[in-house]
Amino acid sequence: MNWDRERTVEDSALQAEIQAAGPIPKHIGFIMDGNGRWAQERGKMRVEGHREGIESVRDIVKAASSLGIGYITLYAFSMENWRRPQAEVNVLMDLLVRYLKSELDELHENNVRMLAIGKLNALPKRVQRKLFECIDIMKDNTGLNLTLALSYSGRWDIVRAVQTIALDVRRGKVSPEDITEDLVSSYLLTSEHPDPDLIVRSSGEMRLSNFLLWESAYSEIYITDKYWPDFRRQELYDAIRDYQKRERRFGKTSQQIAQDSANSGIVGRILDKFKF
Ligand code: IPE
Ligand code: IPE
Ligand code: MG
Repeated sequence: MNWDRERTVEDSALQAEIQAAGPIPKHIGFIMDGNGRWAQERGKMRVEGHREGIESVRDIVKAASSLGIGYITLYAFSMENWRRPQAEVNVLMDLLVRYLKSELDELHENNVRMLAIGKLNALPKRVQRKLFECIDIMKDNTGLNLTLALSYSGRWDIVRAVQTIALDVRRGKVSPEDITEDLVSSYLLTSEHPDPDLIVRSSGEMRLSNFLLWESAYSEIYITDKYWPDFRRQELYDAIRDYQKRERRFGKTSQQIAQDSANSGIVGRILDKFKF
């Protein structure tokens, strides 16, 4: 099924409107929270919430792909989540394998490239096998980059990067003066990703929970009270519309930002004129 063609007329029009209204984030990170509460409020088992949460993942992946977002990173399982009851961890691992099995063909047909970040060797072998198979099959795709954060912790990744840099210093491959922000970024598991422009968290919690700590230094943050199983493409559109209204100043003043954009307009027009 081709996701662009599958869209309703109204949805295509909405997407076109959003694309015309302002910049589309290149990379969005999603903290998919609230599955358990969604289920409990309906008198269901937590697992039902996780199951319904996968429907949200399906919808968000399709919508992100047809909107032309370059990268989405889904926080699916944190390193801290290993502390949950073993039965819940098992269910989450089973759902993950089931998701990978059922979605592989459709993701591949739609040119999605799958990536994974986290301490992947901590995952059960059956999860690792399916995950690496999916990543391998989709490795040359050029559409949406779909990164699954699994057994992931931002601090863990930073520590891992620091250890690797230290080893490279010892081997003489890097000298301490070479250690810059860019070098540190290049040692992180997200080195191929642009920093997230936007971090979205569902279920109203105002925290990052160890997600993309280094990378989110200047990310815009959008928090909605909706639980993840209720977070569908309309909520994604709301998040992007909100993002488009923000002024990203990166430490500068509002006035400077206005001047920068006027200048880039002039430079753009000059470059166009001389067909650079
Ligand atoms: C997010 O939903 C899914 C994972 C963390 C794996 P939760 O399971 O955290 O749901 P709540 O926060 O308990 O409602
Ligand atoms: C964050 O959700 C991790 C994921 C969404 C995978 P949690 O539900 O684990 O976060 P905390 O512990 O409440 O901050
Ligand atoms: Mg939670």
